[in-house]
Amino acid sequence: MEIVPLETAEQVAVLAADVLETAVRSRGDAVLGLATGSTPLPTYRELVRRHEAGSGPSYDGVRCFTLDEYIGLPAGHPESYRATIARELTDALGIPAERVHGPDPAPDGLPTAGERYEAALERAGGVDVQVLGIGSDGHLAFNEPGSSLGSRTRIKTLTEETRRDNARFFGSVEDVPRHVLTQGLGTILRARHLLLLVTGPGKAAALSAAVEGPLTASCPASVLQLHPHVTVLADASATGALERRAHYREVYDAKPAWQGF
Ligand code: PGA
Repeated sequence: MEIVPLETAEQVAVLAADVLETAVRSRGDAVLGLATGSTPLPTYRELVRRHEAGSGPSYDGVRCFTLDEYIGLPAGHPESYRATIARELTDALGIPAERVHGPDPAPDGLPTAGERYEAALERAGGVDVQVLGIGSDGHLAFNEPGSSLGSRTRIKTLTEETRRDNARFFGSVEDVPRHVLTQGLGTILRARHLLLLVTGPGKAAALSAAVEGPLTASCPASVLQLHPHVTVLADASATGALERRAHYREVYDAKPAWQGF
């Protein structure tokens, strides 16, 4: 696992955008896994800024898969992850809706929604780079503590903590859906490169538990320890609780120029 302690959220965004652009440049039909929430927004803005400035890659063949989706919102609701990712990223990059996939929250298809999403991921050949955030309770996508480390896409129930964290998008906790569809931890592990973005002091304890604590379903993000290619980009406030922070920085400062991410 490569942990890169940076200073600011802007530095996280610039480096994350570099990683995503490199993947798209090296494979025109790259499959990008996209997280929602606040953390990746500066990265998405950076990608859009570069695209609009004409310095970004072509997104003509790129396909996207979102990590998760709320259940119970009316179709087109602005806080649905389908609408969010279109508004924040893919529309501006010119990636059409038919190349942006998400778990299908339609009520009558819920029992098979997970299987159908897994099949779509497989047909696409899997995810090349998966953008991830981490919850303050250590969740990854919407895999809350206690989630099976081998889980696949399925319905989950959000914890009270996550619903409180996400109330800022909805106005009140009561309006945050209770149920979601989420890629499982086993699904996430199948992506070829995992790119975890962590910013803000509210994530410091969760990051430390995920990368320096034991592998445990009590901290779902600790499953990253099993993946052979993980890059963690974190700002200074998020790395405050890491015991080996100085070492990670030393490793990054001495990183061979040819290595990339
Ligand atoms: P955030 O959410 O980026 O909005 O903090 C991260 C997450 O819940 O996984």
